[in-house]
Amino acid sequence: MTFFRDASASESSLSFDTREPGPDQRWSTWPASSPTERGPLPHPDWLVTSAGAFDTELGVVKTGKEADVFLIERAVPDTPGCLLAAKRYRGADTSDFHRSGQYEEGRKLRRSRDQRAVAKKSSYGRAVSAGHWAASEFAALSAAYAAGVPVPYPVQVSGTEVLLEFIGDGRVAAPRLAQTRLRGAELDDALGQVREILCAFSRAGLAHGDLSAYNLLLHRGRVVVIDLPQVVDLAANPTGVDFLHRDVKNVCEWFARRGCTVDADEVFGEVIAQLW
Ligand SMILES: Nc1ncnc2c1ncn2[C@@H]1O[C@H](COP(=O)(O)OP(=O)(O)O)[C@@H](O)[C@H]1O
Ligand SMILES: [Mg+2]
Repeated sequence: MTFFRDASASESSLSFDTREPGPDQRWSTWPASSPTERGPLPHPDWLVTSAGAFDTELGVVKTGKEADVFLIERAVPDTPGCLLAAKRYRGADTSDFHRSGQYEEGRKLRRSRDQRAVAKKSSYGRAVSAGHWAASEFAALSAAYAAGVPVPYPVQVSGTEVLLEFIGDGRVAAPRLAQTRLRGAELDDALGQVREILCAFSRAGLAHGDLSAYNLLLHRGRVVVIDLPQVVDLAANPTGVDFLHRDVKNVCEWFARRGCTVDADEVFGEVIAQLW
């Protein structure tokens, strides 16, 4: 059966689009998603929202233990498109959700059947967990973005997939801070940006929960934070401040090893002061 889709519904045209997605393509998931599955308003200008767009998978950015990241181009053929990162949480195959219990205080799965399945680590449970982590990361990215923390724009979430602004030059992903060879003034500047990021999280009542030089990208001199599924709500989680402290320690120790003069206790004081 052939599916037809009106590529220009909003332009009051009677013509139908008979194109079919190729093997590495799908119809853009944007038109089918609900407003709550879309990123914060206003949607950025660069984002392609046309119902006639295809998502083309261009390759793998990185495979991980809990999720894989793919490079996607969303475009109406023959018009300029936008590049997106698709982070897909592993579902029913293999996955290590060892982090769940630790971070779940103050955040409960609503349906008890889901709760039991996750606890038993059944394949249904793993699929629930994957969807849960995707929804969790999307919510955290949206909150961080709204609070002015430099994160990739969260475009969409659907099921186990989060679509994000791709941070890179052309099709090449920006390096993780840990992969860079920053020294001297450039390193000091990056430290200044990371201190501001820690403060911005704290002002928003959040802790990243897994901040390290691997979850910070350096893009044209600007530090961007990624990997937020385990973001901790400082008001709801009784041990939230411990996560904030660990984030501060992790990044300060990394900068100190690279030769920066930085006092983690002083930074923690500055970060905590933002809470009030
Ligand atoms: N929005 C993005 N733009 C460019 N690269 C990204 C983006 N999000 C993730 N990546 C790349 O994918 C890697 C894994 O993503 P991350 O969110 O840290 O997942 P995890 O560490 O849980 O596997 C990152 O280290 C980075 O190299
Ligand atoms: Mg990571």
